[in-house]
Amino acid sequence: MAVRVTPIHGDFVARVTGVDLTRPLDDATFADVEAAFETFGVVVFPDQDIGDDQQIAFSERFGPLEPSVRRHRERAVANPLISDISNVGPDGGILAADSEAMSYNRGNQLWHSDSSFKRVPSKASLLSAREIPPAAGETEFADMRAAWEALAPEMQARIEGLVAEHSLAYSRATMGYDAGSTFFDVEKQEVPPVPQAMVRTSPVTGRKSLYVGSHASHIRGMDREAGRALLDTLLAHAAEDRFVHAHAWSVGDLVMWDNRCVNHRGRPWDAGKYRRIMRRTTVAGEAPTA
Ligand code: OGA
Ligand code: MN
Repeated sequence: MAVRVTPIHGDFVARVTGVDLTRPLDDATFADVEAAFETFGVVVFPDQDIGDDQQIAFSERFGPLEPSVRRHRERAVANPLISDISNVGPDGGILAADSEAMSYNRGNQLWHSDSSFKRVPSKASLLSAREIPPAAGETEFADMRAAWEALAPEMQARIEGLVAEHSLAYSRATMGYDAGSTFFDVEKQEVPPVPQAMVRTSPVTGRKSLYVGSHASHIRGMDREAGRALLDTLLAHAAEDRFVHAHAWSVGDLVMWDNRCVNHRGRPWDAGKYRRIMRRTTVAGEAPTA
């Protein structure tokens, strides 16, 4: 079986076929897949009828996995290495719109990079579509390398070296989730606010990227409002159509993205009516960014 890498959105998104991710990949095939991931930032593997354990095994080829922050809660999945990105509860029923889990998951609809609220933020995420609604519920990706490169040199000079503070409580609060009363003590301790560089450089390609998202509350050492305004300007810039790719899901799609240089957000669907079940694995990063 020969791996085929087909660009579907410039140098940002590629489709990868000719691989069966339910079985261990040989080293040469894995090297091709890894090269596609490092080059593009988003890779789409269609038709992967993959289970949780197989998804974990493939993901671990890229490095150790992060456990879900929500592993201490009652969830539809028991394995701590799987993030349950769904509107279905442990009893198999659709979750109420005002449930804690739905309120928490709605935070995914803001532009973000996964676990930028951790001191060492993640390297990559892999999201597998197990059940999808008949319409809507796309996931959008923004190329933060292209967004960086399109900034005026004066703006680049202004933000290089800046550090933003990121926190899960902040991003959830912006969506109406009251982290104060709904966070477990263990979660609060695990994810206190952390510093993140606002510009990152790929250790593999040397390309720089903008690193801002929903978890960023303010800029350290800058007037609160001025910093907030700058973050909002940069977020709006990175969300421009020219940097964005929308992925419309089919069951069996596994999409992998590089959290170091890609932002993403989930789009709404009729969540009171249709089930949408996605399973995520998250590859841990290697070092703090700031
Ligand atoms: C995620 C996420 C968005 C979506 O899984 O990290 O943000 O479309 N998902 O489900
Ligand atoms: Mn996410």
